[in-house]
Amino acid sequence: MRIRSTGTGRAMIWFVALAFCVPLAVMFGQDVNRGSSRAQAGEQVFKSACAACHGPDGRGTAKEIAGFERPRTFPDFTACDQTSPEPNVTWKDVITHGGPTRGFSDIMPSFSEALTSEQIDDVVAYLRSLCRNPHWPRGELNLPRALVTEKAFPEDEVVISTGMNATGAPGGTTHIFHEQRFGVRNQIEVDVPVNFQDQNHTWYGGIGDTTLGLKRVMFSKLQSESILRPSGSILSLFGGVILPTGNKARGFGTGTTTFETFAAFDQLFPTNTFIQTQFGADLPRHTDIAPQLIFFNTAIGQSFAANHGLGRLWSPMFEFLAARDLVDNAKTNWDVVPEMQVTISKRQHIRANLGVRVPVNNTSGRQIQVVFYLLWDWFDGRLNEGW
Ligand code: HEC
Repeated sequence: MRIRSTGTGRAMIWFVALAFCVPLAVMFGQDVNRGSSRAQAGEQVFKSACAACHGPDGRGTAKEIAGFERPRTFPDFTACDQTSPEPNVTWKDVITHGGPTRGFSDIMPSFSEALTSEQIDDVVAYLRSLCRNPHWPRGELNLPRALVTEKAFPEDEVVISTGMNATGAPGGTTHIFHEQRFGVRNQIEVDVPVNFQDQNHTWYGGIGDTTLGLKRVMFSKLQSESILRPSGSILSLFGGVILPTGNKARGFGTGTTTFETFAAFDQLFPTNTFIQTQFGADLPRHTDIAPQLIFFNTAIGQSFAANHGLGRLWSPMFEFLAARDLVDNAKTNWDVVPEMQVTISKRQHIRANLGVRVPVNNTSGRQIQVVFYLLWDWFDGRLNEGW
């Protein structure tokens, strides 16, 4: 069956079309900007309550005057590379409850008594105005990472993700991802898979095909700066090469170099609901060894934060994964993945996600897998910081 002649093929095309059109419609449907008057009010708050430590310009008061040793993570609010990855809600939490609420120094006091919630929102708007370059993608659009669907936001992250077969032959794969940002909108990425498999009652292990890639943000915009209900969208393109580092005879590699490309489009709605989509292709150099493949992944999720929206984040998600070899008579393989991501450290820079990947059609040879990852956003803090 070719894709154009099947019901699944048509369904997939409709699904792709819908997933891209709905967010675009929402994207142009709203634009609320009360930012500048807030920032003006916030400047007054900053001058009276914060400048003594953070300096009149937001870069920090000179050591001799401030009277405290600057923590390694002490912010320079004019440095966009430091501030843009932090969502407003993080700052609101720290200003309201003090540094220790996110595992920062207790030199940063709590302002829950001294300032109203409104005043804190104003001062956050003022702090935002200190980064003058609007091209840095905002941390609000850094949506919870799904187990399979790649996100559009560029990251400084290490992720160790393991899928274990729950049915069929015992075995699994652990992916070690390293992601690192550079410049305003770019990120490089390395993915080293390690396979372990029981083949006829003997266990074999070995690395699989390693991916090296580059991601670039093409477009990003916050439609609403609302601290608890932000919304916005982000689009990125990815290009990479998958090297044949895996042992083909063991089934751990394809035996040929493959080019991978995808687009990732993510939309955050004001209800803290989000949709992440990824549409791409794997193009092997030798198509007689491995077929070309197209894939379309979607993650739909909802975040719930404890402590009136400022605390630990729980993000249930549901992924739909579709992949199809570009050969005659191939079928589109569909998988679904229900999962739950949760932040572990107070700083929320260590997170875990657990889910089950269930093939829904063409199930022969495709196992149900339990998938789990641990994620470390190393830009936000060291492993032992932020607890
Ligand atoms: C007594 C000194 C002091 C005062 C007053 C103070 N801060 Fe801080 N603030 C700090 C220190 C020190 C840190 C760094 C904590 C760390 O990195 O461990 C900090 C961190 C922060 C952060 C965290 C940034 C991040 O990395 O997420 C924010 C936001 C912040 N301050 C905002 C404010 C605001 C707004 C005010 C005024 C309403 C204020 N601070 C008043 C000392 C102070």
